[in-house]
Amino acid sequence: MTDLQLVVHDASEVAAVRDGDGSSASSGLEPIDDGAVAVVDGEIEAVGDSGAITREYPPENAETAIDATGRTVQPGFVDPHTHAVFAGDRSDEFEAKLQGKSYQEIMAEGGGILRTVRATREADDETLLANLLDHLDVMLAHGSTTVEVKSGYGLDAETELRMLEAIERADERHPIDLVATYMGAHAVPEGSDADEYVDEVIDEQLPTVADQGIAEFCDVFCEEDVFSVEQSRRILEAGRAHGLAPKVHAEEFVHLGGTQLAADVGATSADHLLHATTDDVRALIDAGTVPVLLPGTAFGLRTEYADARGMLEEGAPVALATDFNPNCYSHSMGYATTLACVGMRMTPAEALVAATRTAAAAIDRPDGPGRLEVGAPADLCVLDAPSHVHVPYSFGVNRVDTVVKDGEVVHE
Ligand code: NIG
Ligand code: FE
Repeated sequence: MTDLQLVVHDASEVAAVRDGDGSSASSGLEPIDDGAVAVVDGEIEAVGDSGAITREYPPENAETAIDATGRTVQPGFVDPHTHAVFAGDRSDEFEAKLQGKSYQEIMAEGGGILRTVRATREADDETLLANLLDHLDVMLAHGSTTVEVKSGYGLDAETELRMLEAIERADERHPIDLVATYMGAHAVPEGSDADEYVDEVIDEQLPTVADQGIAEFCDVFCEEDVFSVEQSRRILEAGRAHGLAPKVHAEEFVHLGGTQLAADVGATSADHLLHATTDDVRALIDAGTVPVLLPGTAFGLRTEYADARGMLEEGAPVALATDFNPNCYSHSMGYATTLACVGMRMTPAEALVAATRTAAAAIDRPDGPGRLEVGAPADLCVLDAPSHVHVPYSFGVNRVDTVVKDGEVVHE
């Protein structure tokens, strides 16, 4: 008989996120009252009524048993968009923004991304790794079990590689599963010409990154005064030729055409989308590109949120992410769900699905984590709360009690 690794029983709710039937953005989410989950070999073996599950899988026979009385079990969060490896501190820019300075003004003065680039280039490998591990610890405590991390604060081959190596090393030693994205085209380095830098990305950085095999995606900041649609297209097509799947930072500050580009190149995701149009959203749906919304960024910049409701009404599978970076300093997917509900009028059920199953699709793991159904990886959180609604409902506090990764308790 196979070893029973874990039984979580008597939960006031098991928020069972399953493959949806596409009928709605929250289809597939089945809240099971008085539920339980059984885990064998790191995979979910059974989900359902606690009485029935514990008869078939007695907690006393399990390596680990968790009595979840009064608590909720949900899938671990999947965070499909972060910039979590960097050095330096930009909290003074938070103060400057509160005084009325815009993100672009700060960037034009050499602050913003370029300031983090200077600090990251100066940091040694151990500092980059230690900083990333610290951020991952906070993310894990907030229930994230799979996290995408981008490079992009190096803007030269050596530092971009060092960032990707930090991600690879962190992945080996931290319980969170990491997904690495190369983003050499995050900004034009100080003193460089944009076209010349695009050539450097294509001719030098991309081949080196691809040779090392340490990135899965290639992302571009397609934005006014950063990379044009044509420059972005060149980079994404070159990335694709090197085996890196495209992602795009699109329509964050202005409507430039990055979303249509994402659809054209068959990107895995298009992210931000604050200024995306209905036609853009339809193009994403036709291309199978997942829209990733980052309400923390809009909140921090005090701008309008992306039109999540409009996208959901078009039938788009909306995903959520933290966008954790020095300009959006939130590690918490739970808080992203609060902002999704309060700022973007998503329902708690839609927000949970967007932060788990659809978020996994945004990093090309549609059959991977982010679900609580038989055969899915046993990545889950036990919440100190009676239902999944309490995650967006209670903001500013962390409701995650216990985190399980591949059936092992990795945080409590
Ligand atoms: O996704 N918009 C571009 N990149 C990041 C911000 C990075 C930074 O300001 O350091 C984002 O929000
Ligand atoms: Fe970003």
